[in-house]
Amino acid sequence: MKFSQQSESLREALQPYPRWRLFGEGTATATFEFAEPEYAAGFVTRAIEQARAYQRIPHLSLAGVTVKLTLAVALGREGLAESDRSLLGALERAADHPGRPAPTEEPILSLIADRWSPRAFSEEAVPEPILRRLFEAARWAPSSFNEQPWRFVVVTDPERRDVVAEALVAANSWARRAPVLVVVSVARKFAKNRRINRQAPYDTGGATAQLVMQATALGLVAHQMAGFDPAVVHEKVHIPDAFEPISLVALGYWGEGAGLDEDLLAREDAERERRPLSEVLFWQDWGGEEKASS
Ligand SMILES: Cc1cc2nc3c(=O)[nH]c(=O)nc-3n(C[C@H](O)[C@H](O)[C@H](O)COP(=O)(O)O)c2cc1C
Repeated sequence: MKFSQQSESLREALQPYPRWRLFGEGTATATFEFAEPEYAAGFVTRAIEQARAYQRIPHLSLAGVTVKLTLAVALGREGLAESDRSLLGALERAADHPGRPAPTEEPILSLIADRWSPRAFSEEAVPEPILRRLFEAARWAPSSFNEQPWRFVVVTDPERRDVVAEALVAANSWARRAPVLVVVSVARKFAKNRRINRQAPYDTGGATAQLVMQATALGLVAHQMAGFDPAVVHEKVHIPDAFEPISLVALGYWGEGAGLDEDLLAREDAERERRPLSEVLFWQDWGGEEKASS
């Protein structure tokens, strides 16, 4: 096949991703194989959602879905932007590492089932445009009185990360390997009248959940942590007194077992567990089991 000048630059752009093949001007295909067909179905849905979210990848189609899946991506006239390249990388990673989907009692969004809290992180950096999208997802969370009591400090600089990591409890030392640490802070009082905002932690948790879901959709993993000394983070990250660091989030690409000792490896492989739905869901009244009459 004779490549046009445009295609040559696309071919160059695709070089880091050996699985992607350019087969015509501006179009590339990749084949992924999945061990679990059910995961493949969820993956496809997410891949298409992602591709639509990226306006620069207007078209993504499927040539076949069972255990083997072929994705064709129309790459656009300008070639690949940095963020598009990250998407291709994310697709490859997601296919290689299906993660640990939750064994759910009811069918739910694959994005929710696929989110989990691993401890093994790859050292690969997360590109800044990808990080910005995570916080944009958090920004659009709902909050009581639209107060938006959350603030995030993203720590990517290795020296600064070490400073923040000093606040971690020993059991969270695995998080030192993550290429990104996020400090999540909350304002306990309303900005306009300094009254206590009882919903502030609730809202901040909701915003962080959105951040984590967006991260999952982009092939990243996130692990939230309460195990740190807030006074140390407060001081070292120069958090104003009106805000309180409420959690740290380790973010990055999954590293399979990288950097974990045997104990942590066993926890990484452990069965994912939840209380049964019957223990947390009541009908009509606390403890009630009676469904609505139709
Ligand atoms: C607010 C919060 C704090 C957490 N703190 C820690 C922590 O300090 N260390 C840790 O290893 N995991 C921590 N976790 C992760 C939970 O242990 C984890 O979400 C839970 O075991 C369920 O596992 P899954 O996220 O893989 O479904 C925290 C999670 C949340 C939401």
